[in-house]
Amino acid sequence: MEEFDFENRIVSPTEIMGDNGDDNPLRPRRLADYIGQEKAKQNLAVFMEAAKRRNECLDHVLLYGPPGLGKTTLSGIIANEMGVNMRITSGPAIEKPGDLAAMLTNLNEGDVLFIDEIHRISRAVEEVLYPAMEDFSIDIITGKGQMATAYHLPLPHFTLVGATTRAGQLTAPLRDRFGVSLRLELYTPEELAMIVNRSASILNIPIEQDGALEIASRSRGTPRIANRILKRVRDFAEVMSNGVITLQTAQTALERLEIDELGLDANDRRMLRAIVNFYKGGPVGLETLAAAIGEEAITIEDVIEPYLMQIGFLSRTPRGRCITKAGCLHLGLSLPDEQDSQLKFD
Ligand code: ADE
Repeated sequence: MEEFDFENRIVSPTEIMGDNGDDNPLRPRRLADYIGQEKAKQNLAVFMEAAKRRNECLDHVLLYGPPGLGKTTLSGIIANEMGVNMRITSGPAIEKPGDLAAMLTNLNEGDVLFIDEIHRISRAVEEVLYPAMEDFSIDIITGKGQMATAYHLPLPHFTLVGATTRAGQLTAPLRDRFGVSLRLELYTPEELAMIVNRSASILNIPIEQDGALEIASRSRGTPRIANRILKRVRDFAEVMSNGVITLQTAQTALERLEIDELGLDANDRRMLRAIVNFYKGGPVGLETLAAAIGEEAITIEDVIEPYLMQIGFLSRTPRGRCITKAGCLHLGLSLPDEQDSQLKFD
């Protein structure tokens, strides 16, 4: 069985080394430079303006949606627009309540604390977060037994920006403590083309409009993927032609990268094929499918499936995953014999 490398594939929406970092010049710093997500942007602009007029810090913000849509970027913009600093951490990185207490007590008045993957914080850490978010204070107990002493520590006012791919996995009390909740959506090809043009201009890459649109339409609605593909297409354009990204160079490069017209790569296609060839099109349980293709179930769920479901190639049923008719047609596979397969097309 072939090993998949979903994390490092070019169309992976999860961050890989070289993508980002705080010095990433492609990250917009102002809301006005942030393309797309119009609904979230408009509301956020109002909330920030109101908080500034009242001389308060912004209420806590929950950002949710698939990976790679700009949650960290948006959090950085909030900090920048509010004129404060941003501290970055993540749910799994906060191992003990003391780790969170240390971060909170080191904040300056008004700062933004960004917690990525906030659905992965432990219960014990979450308990510390409640009073911190609600009353800007924490209770710390040091020592044990008779020597135990409780301290009530006031904290500076701060804005917690929590990011998650799965709002449904947050506990209700945590979700309720966010005053602002913004859902980020996959970008349209036109929005992504604007992002590609903006990035190309920052990186001094000559690009034609139809070249940008070609990259955009194969980027799974995800700016992080679009920017990554842009850099690789530039390599092909520089080595194989005159450096200008045209429709032709984009198409040739994307073909060489095995990314098809819809943004599926070889691994997506293999997963869909496995569903057809090994399980007659499905339904197949997530764990079974994961074992069959040598991948973690959670990677399939968080990273691979959202886009395949969004474009209608995969459906989730209570009995497992099924490939759809459209998915089969895209792969050029003949449909499994509907008589003896469990495929249900409507
Ligand atoms: N880079 C990543 N996301 C972006 C966005 N929404 N607008 C502009 N540039 C981006």
